[in-house]
Formats: sequence, C-alpha cells, structure tokens
Amino acid sequence: MPYRLLRTKPIADLVAEGGQGEGARLRRTMTLWQLVMLSVGATLGTGIFVILGQAVPLAGPAVVASFALAALTALFSALSYAELAGTIPVSGSSYSYAYATLGEFTAWVCGWCLMLEYAVSVAAVAVGWGEYLNRFIEDVSGLRLPAAIIHSPGDQGGVVNVTAVLIVALATWLLLRGASESAAVNAFFVLVKIAVLLFFCAVAFTAFRAGNLAPFAPMGVAGVTAAAGQVFFSYIGFDAASTAGEEARNPTRDLPWAIIISLALVTVVYVLVALAAVAAMPWREFDSDGTEASLALIAGQATGATWPALVVSFGAVIAIASVVLTVLYGQTRILFAMSRDGLIPKIFQRVDPRRRVPAANTLIVSLFVSVLAGLIPLGQLAEATSIGTLFAFALVNVGVLVLRRTRPELPRSFRAPFSPLTPLLGAGFCVLLMLQLDGSTWIAFALWTAVGLAVYFLYGYRHSRLHRAGTATEER
Ligand code: ALA
Repeated sequence: MPYRLLRTKPIADLVAEGGQGEGARLRRTMTLWQLVMLSVGATLGTGIFVILGQAVPLAGPAVVASFALAALTALFSALSYAELAGTIPVSGSSYSYAYATLGEFTAWVCGWCLMLEYAVSVAAVAVGWGEYLNRFIEDVSGLRLPAAIIHSPGDQGGVVNVTAVLIVALATWLLLRGASESAAVNAFFVLVKIAVLLFFCAVAFTAFRAGNLAPFAPMGVAGVTAAAGQVFFSYIGFDAASTAGEEARNPTRDLPWAIIISLALVTVVYVLVALAAVAAMPWREFDSDGTEASLALIAGQATGATWPALVVSFGAVIAIASVVLTVLYGQTRILFAMSRDGLIPKIFQRVDPRRRVPAANTLIVSLFVSVLAGLIPLGQLAEATSIGTLFAFALVNVGVLVLRRTRPELPRSFRAPFSPLTPLLGAGFCVLLMLQLDGSTWIAFALWTAVGLAVYFLYGYRHSRLHRAGTATEER
C-alpha cells in the first residue's frame, strides 16, 4: 500500500494526455497575453481594494514595504511554478506537478487543498462582490438592495445571498460559451481594473504630502512583517495561468513567462497604489475594519468631488467579477485533470464537443460554489484559503527540488535561478506564513484534509487510472 500511495505519474503520460477529455479535446487558443491576463485577473482583487486599507494600521506608511516583502515571498514560489509549468504544461497546476514528483497521495492532498484556494475562495469573493455592488448602487442612486439578498443566512439579516449567486451564474454562462470568449472578457475586465487603479494613483498623487510618510515605520519591523502576512493574500492567484496548460497555444514557452510577468505587473501596481494611498491620507486615519471605501475615500478627498470615488468603487466591482471568472475557470480545469487521472468521477472530464469546454464540470462546480456562497457565511472558511494555498505553494517548491534530482535531463523551458536556494526559500516562507495563521484556521484545515482523505480512500484510491493500468512508477 505505501508503494501505491507514492507512485508517481510519468511526465510523458501527463503531457501526452494534455487537452484530451471524454468526447472531445479542449481547444488551444490562449496566447501569452491572455495567460498573463488570466493570472492578473485571478490575483488583483479584494487584496488591494480592501486589505490594503486594513493593513495600514499595522505597519503605517511602511505598508509599501509590506507589499514588497509579500511580493518577494510570492516570487520564490512563482519561480518554482514557472519551472514546473514549463516542464509539465498541463491543466492541473500544482496537483499535476505533485503527481509527477511526490506521488499520488500527496497529489490528491494538494488537489484537495487547491479547492480551498479556488472553489472556497471564489465563494467568499462572490459574497464580497454583492456587498461592493450594493455600495456602488447606493452611491450612484441612493438605493439600497435589501439585506435579505446580499448577505448569507444569519449574517446581518440575510436570507439567501442572491447577488453572490448572480455573479457565479454570470461567470458560469461565460465559461460555458468557451475558453477564448471568457479570456477575451477577462482581458477587458483586467484592463479596466488596472486603469481604475492607475486613475486612483494619479488622483491620490495630487494630494501627496511627504509629511504623511514620516515616521515611515511607526510599528517597526514587526509591524511591517505582520502587515506583509496580511497582504500576502493579495498575491494569491498568480499561479492561475498554470491551470490553462492544455488551452495555451504554446504552453512550454508561455506559461513560465505568464506567471512571472503577472506577478511583476501586480507588484508594480500594488506598490504604486499603496504609496499613493499612504502619501495622500495620514496613516492613522485608515480603519482596520474598513472596506474598499478607504481607496474611494482618498479619491474623494483628494479631488473634493464625488465621481472619482464612484470610479474607484466601480473598479472594485469589475475587479472582483474578474477574480470570480478566472478562479472558477481554474477550479474546473484542475478537476478536469484529476478526473482524467481517475481520482474523481469521469463526468468532470467530459468535454462539450461544440464549445470544447468541460460543461458538466463547470455546472457542478458552479452549483457547489453557489450553494456555498448563497447559504454559508464564509468568514472562517475564507481564512482557510490562505493555508490551503500556502500548502500547495510549498509542495510546488519541493516538487522543483525533487524533479531536479529525479529527472535532471528533462528539457526545462524555464529554470528557477539559484536552485536549490530559491525553492528552499520559497518552501520556507510558505511554512513560516502558515505558522502565522490562527489555531482555528489550522483546525479547519485539518478537518478539510480529513474529509479529503476519506474521499480518497473511498473513491480515488480504487479508481486511480494509474493503479488500474498497472503503470510502473519508473519513468519511461
Ligand atoms: N489575490 C486575490 C484577491 O486579492 C485573492 O482578491
């Protein structure tokens, strides 16, 4: 049995199966540009619109340094993702990398954790979207949507979070139309959100006061690192391009660069926005319970007019819609890969012959996410997102080290520089950040993993294609 749990899937098989689902193949349409937009779409969202404001009281103006520090942490893992995405260009992201390097059991646990990064987090993000939409509508028209339809049951008078279900339904409709259609709409959304954030910077820099930046780090180094832990969330998603390996036109060449370019792009935007924000408004005026209103507030104060605040609120609505779209996409493709390996039922790999998308898979995922988003208050669960993501990131770093030893001869279109130092630092940082998280988050993570293990031993273990084909662990 231990042997079976540790068996790895030959990389040649993983790559050869690329794109093949039941009934039809996925279509290779995505360009480097669309892959970058996919990752930026999944990354740039509530982190910069909301969490920036909440992190300022922890670090003061040095929140700018916190964003840079969190980017550095993400960078080590991004380099590892880039190496594996270029070597094993399939749709399963870290799940598939773990299957090729650390064995079926670890791959399953990784795939299960990715559901925290994707399905559960997108449900939480969809819940937030309803609140932004509501605020935007109220700012524009003075009307408020009824509490019953914008909150989960038991939360501030909510009955069913209809707005959360609505954004999931819209994203599903788009995803079912086709991957390239979804990518095109997403690219437009991403351009809008970047434009809105640049607009914010331009407006906020007109209110630049050097005095607001002194003292720069009133809470010292401890404040900077605590805020870095909090804003790390805003970088989650840079790995989304690695779920498009089977729909990219030239995955080996483009995936590594998509991951690195998108991380670089969001880092520049984040640091600029953070600097503009703390230079425009004294750090003590930021409210740790605040919402995206802090950016809107700054835009309003800097200009003395209301429309700039509206533009920023509109940006948040669009930004979060594109996170929902891209993260849902990523979840369906990871499940697609897991299904092809036999670890979950076949229905997840059925491809609609006309649209060439995994249609049943997309509908099931959307239904699951809608139920979560519509009925369950997600505060606690959302925190579990970070722990699951960090675990998956750590595995990718370890995967690079393992593959360099076991398959040194494999062609790698991108090599993480200074290996083994960078993957080791990547894994170390992930573990360090995991240790910063609450005890309750660890308990939620343990329960989630326990459910995952039960599912594996009741289903995946027996249905695994690798097992049924009696494939040898040795690479061919
Ligand atoms: N990075 C994503 C966001 O900030 C999760 O919304």
